[in-house]
Amino acid sequence: MSSERVSIHGQWSSRLAFVLAATGSAVGLGNIWKFPYITGENGGGAFVLVYLACIAVIGIPIMMAEVMLGRRGRQSPINTMRTLAAEEHASKHWQWLGWAGVIAGFLILSYYSVIAGWALSYVFRTGSGLFTGLTADGVQTIFTNLTGDPERLLAWHTLFMVMTMIVVAQGVRNGLEKAVKWLMPMLFVLLFIMVGYAWNSGSFEQGLNFLFQPDFEKITANGILIAMGHAFFTLSLGMGAIMVYGSYLPAGASIARTSILVSLMDTAVALLAGMAIFPIVFANGLEPGSGPGLIFQTLPIAFGHMQYGAFFGMLFFVLLVFAAWSSSISLIEPAVAWLVENRGMTRGSASIIAGVVTWLVGLLTVLSFNLWSEVKLLSYFAIFRDSTPFDLLDYLTANIMLPLGGLLIAIFAARKMSRASSVDELGMGDRFFYPVWRFLVRYITPIAVIIVFLKAIGIIDWLVSWYDRLV
Ligand code: PHE
Repeated sequence: MSSERVSIHGQWSSRLAFVLAATGSAVGLGNIWKFPYITGENGGGAFVLVYLACIAVIGIPIMMAEVMLGRRGRQSPINTMRTLAAEEHASKHWQWLGWAGVIAGFLILSYYSVIAGWALSYVFRTGSGLFTGLTADGVQTIFTNLTGDPERLLAWHTLFMVMTMIVVAQGVRNGLEKAVKWLMPMLFVLLFIMVGYAWNSGSFEQGLNFLFQPDFEKITANGILIAMGHAFFTLSLGMGAIMVYGSYLPAGASIARTSILVSLMDTAVALLAGMAIFPIVFANGLEPGSGPGLIFQTLPIAFGHMQYGAFFGMLFFVLLVFAAWSSSISLIEPAVAWLVENRGMTRGSASIIAGVVTWLVGLLTVLSFNLWSEVKLLSYFAIFRDSTPFDLLDYLTANIMLPLGGLLIAIFAARKMSRASSVDELGMGDRFFYPVWRFLVRYITPIAVIIVFLKAIGIIDWLVSWYDRLV
């Protein structure tokens, strides 16, 4: 019965369109901006390994679960959860999962847009040849001048939010679906060019060793939580973005193959970005752990020294902006779909309302890099000693809200939903692959998420020491 349900918002034109849109959502600042800098802050290889393991055993199964729920419910995540809960005789409180996702989406987009604004401004900086011949110091000064100026950050943040609202207002199929088809492959090509440049930078080996040689001494419980949180973040999981995209997926498209494909492409982009950036970091004596400015302080050095650097640099940041753009629309789509369904709004007004709210929250991030850079709200806790409001927003959403959302999605998909419903919706039979998926989502994923949470809070260490004292 539910396979006949149709979404009032329309449908992707084909499975390929869904793959492109989901890849557009997944590939974004998370891969190119965030992955390198958190890898740098958490010591490299071991962190990357934990991240890859999380993608495989947590990310892919949850992506399948999320797409499955979306396609079965065919509405915004809030209404999908309400409908499915009723259908599966589960508590109506499951709709709160949809609400939590909407809130996570607002919070993430609020800072995402500010960082995308940096990328936008770098389109013009690189294009004008500003970086030509500059050393690491000069490049760094340009970056700190940008982030230190709240008015400039505000202007770029505003521009990016307007771009997002315009596309969201048009609906899922117009515009971006077509653009992504060209831009994603171009981004790949450009990353290869950058890796090629890094190869000749003199420190390629050192960069690769940093990325791929695990040194488990360097990873902490909090680092493991960050790696897991990033697996959710980079695949757009745990807040309903992939669920709402799944709700536009034509019946009959293979959810398993699609999810694996999207995850592989996403991972490839992140690893390529790391391979392009770390050699430059080491060749120029920079600090891998220098934080959110990492790509803005490394790649321009390369663009400033390579042939046609202004052109490649501009192209690179244009593509980064597009990657961010196609992710940002998925971050407010759950809210917009709900406003259209339940408040009877047009997509235009729904986008404006959701966009303005996000824009306002974004001011917290704009100020975190300058006027409020010394505001440390949770400095009482050691791990948040240096955290600005932006750092806290990022930590709360990526490392807590998304994994928690993913945990609940796993519980609903594999424990509340009947076996018959999930077999029907996943459409891969009941034999080999289905039981593997079900086992992962029933046991492995929830247990892994819970253990990582308990370990990060310190409860596991406390229990171990308590046990040691006992025996
Ligand atoms: N996956 C996107 C990125 O890596 C960010 C994102 C997170 C998008 C959550 C949607 C939902 O940039």
